[in-house]
Amino acid sequence: MITDRLRLDGRTVIVSGAGGGGIGTSCARAVSEAGAVVVAVDRDQDRLDAIELPGELVRVRADIGTPEGVQAVVDAAPGTLFGLVNVVGGSLIPHWAPALDFGREQWDAALDLNLHHVMFLSQAVARRIVEQGGDGSIVTISSTGGVVAAPYHVGYGTAKAAVLGLTRTLALEWGRYGIRVNAVAAGSITTPRATSAPQDPAVAGRGVPLGRRGTPDDVAGAVLFLISDLAAYTTGAVLPVEGGALQRLGLFDDENIPVHVTNPQILARINGTSEN
Ligand SMILES: NC(=O)c1ccc[n+]([C@@H]2O[C@H](COP(=O)([O-])OP(=O)(O)OC[C@H]3O[C@@H](n4cnc5c(N)ncnc54)[C@H](O)[C@@H]3O)[C@@H](O)[C@H]2O)c1
Repeated sequence: MITDRLRLDGRTVIVSGAGGGGIGTSCARAVSEAGAVVVAVDRDQDRLDAIELPGELVRVRADIGTPEGVQAVVDAAPGTLFGLVNVVGGSLIPHWAPALDFGREQWDAALDLNLHHVMFLSQAVARRIVEQGGDGSIVTISSTGGVVAAPYHVGYGTAKAAVLGLTRTLALEWGRYGIRVNAVAAGSITTPRATSAPQDPAVAGRGVPLGRRGTPDDVAGAVLFLISDLAAYTTGAVLPVEGGALQRLGLFDDENIPVHVTNPQILARINGTSEN
């Protein structure tokens, strides 16, 4: 059955940033429900301790911004290492500023949190998979802010765009080892620490064709698809999970009316009030 391809039984999957109670925790739960042995990674012990999964779980406290942390994570992965979900990242309040004022420290911090570990943890995982004889899958959580502009958030937007470039490059280089590399462009997702979007549902859906913010499970569903053999012929892809927000140009308002159209006949036709 094609649904069998969703199963990850006997496969070890590392989830970085699994302890946040948001996207990482949902991804860990999703791959665990699909049968994977989960290596949950976080630098925060309390968050790690709070993770509960239905299947086998290895908790690893590590800072994946360091080479030692990366090595510790891969060394702790039992059995056949198959997958990696790169979740560590985020948009912190001090990282918001006009580009004219953006400081070197802010820049370094945003790129450290969102970019560098994606390369080096993916590399360490891929080396292990190659040693095992190949066959693996890596998924990275990027953002709509990495696909289109991220005004006043230049460090985050640049880092999230860079991980998409990295995804494509790694997909090309590692296809020969049977390692697929894909990314998710998450939109506005309700998580415990999300800083950039309103919690008020009345405004949270603005600009989103599906009319609401996403949930961590919305992202985890896309991750589960991409990491599993259901996506066996997909690599280098960026899957938007954004309620359609990326699909609407600013030339259209929330009702999908083109903002530059003032002709009453056209507006009447769009609104269904035209008599001919
Ligand atoms: N929430 C949103 O609206 C949204 C939208 C688009 C993309 N994203 C992306 O989704 C991802 C997860 O977002 P979230 O809000 O669930 O994050 P979160 O802050 O809740 O979780 C991230 C976890 O990573 C851990 N972490 C941070 N640096 C680490 C390091 N160096 N080593 C080990 N662990 C580390 C933190 O302790 C935390 O538990 C991020 O990459 C974020 O950019 C989120």
